[in-house]
Amino acid sequence: MSTVVVGLDIGTSRIRAIIGEISDSGVFQITGVGTSPSTGLRKGVVVNIENTVRAISQAIEAAELMSGVEVTSCVMGIGGTHLDGLNSRGVVAVTGKNRDSREIGPDDISRVIIAAKAVVIPMDRQVIHVIPQSYIVDDQKGIRDPRNMIGVRLEAEVHIITGSVTSIQNMIKCVNRASLNVDEYMLHALASVKSVMTVDERELGSILIDLGGGTTDVIVLADDAPLMTFVLPVGGIQVTNDISIVKGISAETAERIKLDAGCCWMPLIEDNEEVILPGVGGRPPVIIPRTEICEIIQPRMTEIFKMIHEKISPLMKTRQLSGNVVITGGGALLPGVVELAGDVFNTQAVRIGIPGNFGGLTNEYRSPDYATVLGLLLAAQERQKVQESTDTTHEVSAKPAFMRLRTWWKELF
Ligand SMILES: Nc1ncnc2c1ncn2[C@@H]1O[C@H](COP(=O)(O)OP(=O)(O)OP(=O)(O)O)[C@@H](O)[C@H]1O
Ligand SMILES: [Mg+2]
Repeated sequence: MSTVVVGLDIGTSRIRAIIGEISDSGVFQITGVGTSPSTGLRKGVVVNIENTVRAISQAIEAAELMSGVEVTSCVMGIGGTHLDGLNSRGVVAVTGKNRDSREIGPDDISRVIIAAKAVVIPMDRQVIHVIPQSYIVDDQKGIRDPRNMIGVRLEAEVHIITGSVTSIQNMIKCVNRASLNVDEYMLHALASVKSVMTVDERELGSILIDLGGGTTDVIVLADDAPLMTFVLPVGGIQVTNDISIVKGISAETAERIKLDAGCCWMPLIEDNEEVILPGVGGRPPVIIPRTEICEIIQPRMTEIFKMIHEKISPLMKTRQLSGNVVITGGGALLPGVVELAGDVFNTQAVRIGIPGNFGGLTNEYRSPDYATVLGLLLAAQERQKVQESTDTTHEVSAKPAFMRLRTWWKELF
């Protein structure tokens, strides 16, 4: 019998569910993909429970139908502008694995992470992830894995991600009402990193930009740990609205024109390219040059990239980021994003993040707007592996602690 794992991305534009199956011999395959239009969210936050529950059920049912299995739980993504990242540090005295040696053990690591996590956050917020960046043992800085080192003083530098308690509870409630348990939840951008970023990129220092419908999620990583995370309240919906307002057409028509003829980098457009704007209220359709659409989209996309650049600039002055700018989300499908981001960030190192091939029946998920849900599925798969090793190992406490240390995107306890 195979083990079923599920990733669920509750986005502002679409809800996406992916089912993966792990066979007894350990082979992992994607067997079901389901999506549905999302109408119950604004900027990544649930504003209409009924609509969201219905859309989640639809996406899950579609995925179940494709895979032929019934699912009961999932790893869920958390998005929205209520999310915030901050860096913190904690210090403890090493007690050691046993009383005679000062050899750092799992308990010391747990304690130092708890110390680093002890920041004051308002009552209405909760910690979602605590991710170790590096450790300092006595005066030795930049240690990735302090286990078994001898020391007196252990210090941890961590990145903490917090979010609004009620926003998270509402999202979990929707999933529960769609008859699913939430095994774990994860920041959207962290999930996307899992599915599209290479280890080299994470080590060298890279920026992941997820251009969604209602939000743009950003994460900056170096030395395989996040340095900065934030969510901007802008996305593809604003771009569509701009077209709709400037051209006096409905949002649906504007969206279709954006998908068919949108572009955010003028040099990519040939001289004679034209777009048909359907007439409104009995007016005849008009033909306009495609450059007119680009003139609307490019400034908005430039603004989004500039906002990101501005927020990251102080960090870029102190840390060298020699990896890539990786763009995912539905907005990454807009022609010209790579060129425009390269211009704003003044670099050639920009690419679109497309999830890799995980086998199975369908390749539908091999698109940048599936980056988040695929990352969530990978998190679900990892979770399953950790659980199995906990079930089978006799060194009950040591092994899971080690696994969790390596999978930095998970909260440590
Ligand atoms: N081919 C395309 N060209 C331009 N834009 C596109 C294209 N395909 C999708 N988009 C845009 O991408 C956005 C949706 O992206 P995505 O599916 O990643 O959002 P989401 O995950 O539902 O939302 P969020 O992450 O903000 O909650 C929409 O605004 C849509 O118009
Ligand atoms: Mg999204």
